[in-house]
Amino acid sequence: MWRASILTILPEVFPGPLGASLAGKAMAAGAWSLDVVDIRAFATDKHRTVDDTPAGGGPGMVMKADVLGRAIDATATDERPRLLLSPRGAPLTQARVESLTRATGLLLICGRFEGVDERVIGARSLEEISIGDYVLSGGEIAAIAVIDACVRLLPGVMGAPASSAEESFAEGLLEYPQYTRPQLWEGRPIPEVLLSGDHRKIAAWRRAEAERVTRDRRPDLWAARHSGARTKPAGRE
Ligand SMILES: C[S@@+](CC[C@H](N)C(=O)[O-])C[C@H]1O[C@@H](n2cnc3c(N)ncnc32)[C@H](O)[C@@H]1O
Repeated sequence: MWRASILTILPEVFPGPLGASLAGKAMAAGAWSLDVVDIRAFATDKHRTVDDTPAGGGPGMVMKADVLGRAIDATATDERPRLLLSPRGAPLTQARVESLTRATGLLLICGRFEGVDERVIGARSLEEISIGDYVLSGGEIAAIAVIDACVRLLPGVMGAPASSAEESFAEGLLEYPQYTRPQLWEGRPIPEVLLSGDHRKIAAWRRAEAERVTRDRRPDLWAARHSGARTKPAGRE
């Protein structure tokens, strides 16, 4: 079973959306498990302090290396990847998500305040990972995003095995537009080709649309495809 452990000072946030829909059903079916570790339980003073003022001065507070180190040591008793959610981290990609699903699970550390004492990042070999170029107030929402992206790729979780192969990023392309009934809505028809029943024509149309959307919306992805710089989604040849 794929095992996710989350270290947080806000354990009450979980499972949140991870307990609903696809992820929740997969958890109930035993495809994955979640354990939530309260970092405060590893504080030693009576106020259960997890943060202190930044060395050198400045605003905010910093999560303490000693408390977090103990929490990690008690939880990371196996070889699962240890990720620290951080806006300074490597941007999460679908290729990285795929590789995380091939591990036995993962350990996610949610930062708060101004961040985490740098020494614990090095000493516990934490990989910093970001879910985008913006700043959240804590790592909890980012942890939910990482786990949700992983869980839907676990074997047996998504309905059709082809679902993920055609999704955005699968081949360095965004997905083609989708439509469903009614055939005409507010004067807007479903493109004729999708109703033709001609699977080759439909596949060609979808490919061309995926390329158009990628070129228009994500010139960075499009350029990477053509420079050969694109990271191949792990496991796809
Ligand atoms: C207010 S943020 C700290 C921001 C930090 N002072 C900086 O400027 O990089 C508090 C915590 O939220 C989480 N966080 C914020 N933005 C994130 C992002 N884009 N991706 C992942 N985690 C994020 C991290 O765990 C971070 O330690």
